[in-house]
Amino acid sequence: MSSHAARSSARFAKASERWTADDGAAIASELRLPAGSSILDVGGGTGVLAGHLAAASAYSVTVLDRDSLAVEKGSPRVGVTSVLGDAGAMPFVDATFDGVLFVDAFHHLGDQQAAIRETARVLRHGGVVLVAERDPGYLAAKLTFCYERMIGESVSAHAPQELAQMFRAVGIEGATRYSVGDSYRFRGVRT
Ligand SMILES: C[S@@+](CC[C@H](N)C(=O)[O-])C[C@H]1O[C@@H](n2cnc3c(N)ncnc32)[C@H](O)[C@@H]1O
Repeated sequence: MSSHAARSSARFAKASERWTADDGAAIASELRLPAGSSILDVGGGTGVLAGHLAAASAYSVTVLDRDSLAVEKGSPRVGVTSVLGDAGAMPFVDATFDGVLFVDAFHHLGDQQAAIRETARVLRHGGVVLVAERDPGYLAAKLTFCYERMIGESVSAHAPQELAQMFRAVGIEGATRYSVGDSYRFRGVRT
C-alpha cells in the first residue's frame, strides 16, 4: 500500500468513528426492508456504520471496500461480513442482495457508472438502493470536496437530481430528499 493510500485509509477510519447506534437505526428505518434482508454497504470502510446497522436490525450486512486495512478492521464486527473488492467489479453473483447502501462513499468512486451497473446486477428485483451524499451546490460541501481533492482523493459529487438520473438509467427509480443541511439521501427501488 502506498503512503498516500495508507493516509487515506487512516483518515477514513477516523471519520467512521462518528457513526452511532442512532445512525444505524436511522439507516435501517430508511431501508424499510423485511427482517432477514441482506444488505451490501459499498465503500463501507471499517464497517462501523454496518455494525450499528446490523445491531439495530435483523439484516445481514456485507461491507465491500477496496481498502485491505479497512476490511481487516471490519472483519470481527458482529453481524457484518467484510469483503475486499472494487465497487466497479463486485465479487458477488447476480441478485445477491435486497439492499445496497452507499454512505459518504459514492463521490469517491473512480468509475461511478461501473458501480451503478454493478449495483443493478447484484440487487434483486424490488431491492432498495440508499445513497447518502452531500450536495456540491452548497458552500460547505464544496469546501469539503475541494479539501479532499487537494489531499489527492478522487472526488466526483452530484446534485440530488443528477444522482437520481444516473440510477434511473439502469432501472433503479427513486426520489431524493435533504436530511441535514447539505446532506441528502437517494432511495431507489430496482424495477
Ligand atoms: C469516506 S470513506 C466512507 C466509509 C464509510 N461508508 C463511512 O461512512 O464511514 C469512503 C470509502 O470508500 C472506499 N472506496 C473508494 N473507492 C472504492 C471503490 N472503487 N470500491 C470500493 N470501495 C471504495 C474507500 O476505501 C473508503 O473506505
